[in-house]
Amino acid sequence: MQTIKFEIEDGVALVGIDVPGRSLNILTPQLQRELDELFARLAGDDAVKGVVIHSAKARGFIAGADLMELVEAFEHGTSKVEAREQSAYLQGLTRRIETLGKPVATAIGGLALGGGLELALGTHYRVLSERADAQLGLPEVSVGLLPGGGGTQRLPRLIGIAQALPMLLDGKPVGPQRALELGLVDELAAPEQLLARAKAWVLANPDARQPWDRKGWKPRDLGSLAFPHGPLTSRILQAHVASRGNYPAPLAILSCVGEGMVVDLDTGLRIERNYFAQLLTGPVARNLIRTQFINKAAADKLVRRPQGFTSRSFTRIGVLGAGQMGAGIARVAAVAGIEVALLDASLEQAQAAHARLADELARAVSRGQLAGDKAEAALARIHPTADYAELGAAELVIEAVFEDLAVKAEVTARAVSAMPADALFASNTSTLPISLLAGQFPRPADFIGLHFFSPVERMPLVEIIRGRETSDATLAAAMDFVAQLRKTPILVNDSPGFFTSRVFGSFVDEGFLMLEDGIAPALIEQAARQAGMPVGPLAVADEVSLELQLKVNRQAIELGFEERFQRGAAIDLVKTMVNEFHRPGRRAGGGFYDYPEEGGKRLWTGLAQHWPQASQQPTLEELRLRILSIQALESARCVEEGVITDAADADLGSTLGIGFPTWTGGVLSYIDTLGLAAFVEQCDGLAERWGERFRPSAWLRRRAETGERFHPRPTQAGN
Ligand code: NAI
Repeated sequence: MQTIKFEIEDGVALVGIDVPGRSLNILTPQLQRELDELFARLAGDDAVKGVVIHSAKARGFIAGADLMELVEAFEHGTSKVEAREQSAYLQGLTRRIETLGKPVATAIGGLALGGGLELALGTHYRVLSERADAQLGLPEVSVGLLPGGGGTQRLPRLIGIAQALPMLLDGKPVGPQRALELGLVDELAAPEQLLARAKAWVLANPDARQPWDRKGWKPRDLGSLAFPHGPLTSRILQAHVASRGNYPAPLAILSCVGEGMVVDLDTGLRIERNYFAQLLTGPVARNLIRTQFINKAAADKLVRRPQGFTSRSFTRIGVLGAGQMGAGIARVAAVAGIEVALLDASLEQAQAAHARLADELARAVSRGQLAGDKAEAALARIHPTADYAELGAAELVIEAVFEDLAVKAEVTARAVSAMPADALFASNTSTLPISLLAGQFPRPADFIGLHFFSPVERMPLVEIIRGRETSDATLAAAMDFVAQLRKTPILVNDSPGFFTSRVFGSFVDEGFLMLEDGIAPALIEQAARQAGMPVGPLAVADEVSLELQLKVNRQAIELGFEERFQRGAAIDLVKTMVNEFHRPGRRAGGGFYDYPEEGGKRLWTGLAQHWPQASQQPTLEELRLRILSIQALESARCVEEGVITDAADADLGSTLGIGFPTWTGGVLSYIDTLGLAAFVEQCDGLAERWGERFRPSAWLRRRAETGERFHPRPTQAGN
């Protein structure tokens, strides 16, 4: 046996799981096979009175399955039959364990997630380490799946339906105390006591059986599934309807529990594997896992960092502009242990920003997001100033002043005269070309774009923009900096609006054009949310400020790069809103929405007067397609222009940065899932009905004809 260390003590078989080459066990196919063979043998071994399963590693129990293996299987097209077999295997193993005819206990020393917990649920008794790092959970829902190894059947049978559903649907793990309260484990013990306690229980309970295998057993709270008034079911169904079934896992889980609780366990397991196979062979799980886990993990590990440069760790930076973004950047850098000179036009402004940060950090502490001493130390690392001399020791200066070329030029020049001759310079601009800004810097090779998202402390993404002259060394150092802040970098080449602002702009403009087409504003907003965008285009335009959009557009025209920002009729609508109706956005009191003092927001009734509604409204589905397709098209254009060189950057940028729905896997995954040829056809249809902006380029058509994808399929060798 390669994955199991086996011994017998006092007639009890101790099965120590030790998957080679890993610091934490995961539930590999080989481990399952070896456990299955071992338990088949133990059943007939009269010298063995019972079994204890535990981890032979220093940490944890079993932390779920290998997502990478799952994705590779997906990409090669797992069939429903194969998916059912996969689920049936773990189900069969757990069933074999619980019907062994001998007591089986699990000693859980730490993490037991996914299949690891399902395995433990198939044993008769669970002892859990009392240490806080012991966490139990079934997180499959977060990757678009359900626990297909009996989890949806045993968890509600064990702890009750009303307690099990939230665990299955939220996917959040629970710690030792909560696990004990829920009845998920039978006992807590000190780590060094776990094995002894489990063994003692096995010796004291020779004829252990699962309660659900006793005659006449019934789940205790079937009533909580009552439809339509059961609070749980209606909440789940509402969420499902609201997302138009974009995320099929929650409903499948509800079905497993609902259908499975009124039948015996074996029938329940059959039901579970059918739903599991549906999810595993559908696109959503594959897209969620690939983008949110595999690609994100690769980006976090800096797999695309240029080779040959020693890794850098920053100790001192300067931030120019202590506004919303500058203060946010200073905060995350200080929390990461970096000293920050936070500079604004006057000392008072910089100090006011420091005071706001003090409040924010205090709030983070009171919410338990940050330890008190860490917050204090971070705040002490931020030095508010208006004196450029404070940049004298900075290794990197990040500019986050107004989005105005002249202001940026002025602060850059003043910083250059004060900062060290080898320090790097980054701009947090969201619309100005990096190569243009680099022209204001004497060493354009040391200049780069670091585009953070608001609010900086919560948004995980940083878009790194390589200017025409940015060196590999600068790029590598910028990636190290982003990693030091524990953010996820994507890499893009320079273009006005880079990648994220371009795609985001296409979304907002599409909303404006819908208004021009006479579509009801409420319908526009609803369609966006049903597509999975976090907010509608009109609401988000109000947040960004319509006035700022006008300013950016004016600047683009003056600087001669407006062709990329071809906003056509969309910008006319912004002009009307700002200049004619004096509704520049939320911060100025109103835009597409009114913001009454008592809170909340209402669509401005004036909209209907100025953009009369067409008597025939398109279907929500049509609007949904417009919203998703326009962003996907803009992304494809970024690939065509070389702004994006790796599909993973586009998918991560769109899902983590601008709220493109995760069920798609991201903008380019969305196209790959449909198939490029089908996407091109869909866009041609939209072009006929709504305008030439939907017309795919010749380049895209050629790719469609040759059957290309944006994400290459992994090579067969990897499987
Ligand atoms: P903001 O208006 O909140 O902050 C700008 C700060 O710069 C103000 O504190 C202002 O006093 C300071 N400033 C202006 N002129 C100055 C000068 N001559 N010397 C020193 N300080 C000066 O603006 P925000 O939103 O923080 O944006 C800053 C930059 O970040 C812009 O380039 C913007 O495009 C970009 N950005 C903004 C995002 C957002 O969501 N707000 C997201 C990503 C990038």
